[in-house]
Amino acid sequence: MAASAAASGWKIVIVDYPLPDLDAIPEQNRGAAEAMLAIWRDWFGPKDGDGNTDYENFFEQAARLQAVIAECDPETTFIATLSDAPARRISDRHERPKRDLADHARYGPIGRMEALPAQERLAASYHRYDAFLRHAGRLAIPCGVDLDDPDETTLTQALHKVIPASGGDFWVKIMLSAKYGIHHIQVPVDTAAPKALDVVDESLVWALVHASGRPKSLLVQAHAVMTHEYRVFIVDHQPVTAAACIEEFTPLDNLEPFDPQFRVHRSAGTPVIRDEAARDALVAFAVAVAAELRAEVPELRDYVMDVALGADSQPLVIELNGLQNAGLYASDTRRTLRALMAAGWQPAGDDDILAIRVDVH
Ligand SMILES: Nc1ncnc2c1ncn2[C@@H]1O[C@H](COP(=O)(O)OP(=O)(O)OP(=O)(O)O)[C@@H](O)[C@H]1O
Ligand SMILES: [Mg+2]
Repeated sequence: MAASAAASGWKIVIVDYPLPDLDAIPEQNRGAAEAMLAIWRDWFGPKDGDGNTDYENFFEQAARLQAVIAECDPETTFIATLSDAPARRISDRHERPKRDLADHARYGPIGRMEALPAQERLAASYHRYDAFLRHAGRLAIPCGVDLDDPDETTLTQALHKVIPASGGDFWVKIMLSAKYGIHHIQVPVDTAAPKALDVVDESLVWALVHASGRPKSLLVQAHAVMTHEYRVFIVDHQPVTAAACIEEFTPLDNLEPFDPQFRVHRSAGTPVIRDEAARDALVAFAVAVAAELRAEVPELRDYVMDVALGADSQPLVIELNGLQNAGLYASDTRRTLRALMAAGWQPAGDDDILAIRVDVH
């Protein structure tokens, strides 16, 4: 399947946003931000923005560029953008058209029209893996609508189970592509499945039409307590760095390889706290689940695993995502790059591209 020749080098994609509003940099991050900005300006010019670039998006890219310069072989690593501009070699800025780098491994955001690399597709199929279902910490049922195969679970069957199990409080995630998202549904606990189906249909608008006929295109889940949401970066099957889902944090806020800072409820806007005990429990859990995933899906090597503490503080898996487009939060980007370089992946050539982005399933 995969190309057998080792990659000739790396193609690192950096999105060259204009500069954001630099006044937004917190005082304690100014020094570290200046170091990143110096490298950024060296590669992408002064290109002052109009202040409209999203702060987190920009500093994620700046942190990745700094990590690439620190960790990658300058002779064999090229820096590319999502535009048609040629890629540039780190050592001497020698330019090569991006299409000439098909024999290079890649890391970085995937453009909207680009094919989806196999690792991304494998991560997006997490709801098909028993290791996820075993460790979801909540009833989670992959299902579909208008299915031909009578052995596949239908949405109605899933609702029939999830409503009593969750007291009518559940989530439906559309597993086709990111744009349909996830929907929180609440119905009276005595609602019959066909009636609940109408409620879900209304909430999901067109998603059920798109999902029609596709087994396991939906993931119905009971509502669960989820605190201390934490993103673990896994390279070559091993957790290498992690950080909590704190929306305003970037690698500038990183304190340790497995960052101990948390926001207890992701969307509550509550203060950031340090919690080493939660961190240790979540990392140990992620190590164990990554080993189980490796045994079950050995071809899945690089991904992020979002975990959280559930009821009684038991860790659970929220979801998996591909590594390339995943938000970094306060992770240690250098460790991610170092692990990728050590793994020395094969090129993401045609053999590694299994699906196109618009239709992940
Ligand atoms: N079963 C559940 N019970 C309680 N909360 C949930 C459940 N499923 C998801 N959530 C909440 O919704 C968020 C988004 O869910 P998930 O990560 O699966 O979807 P997503 O499409 O990746 O969304 P996002 O991009 O916002 O992370 C989770 O981070 C969690 O806070
Ligand atoms: Mg998510």
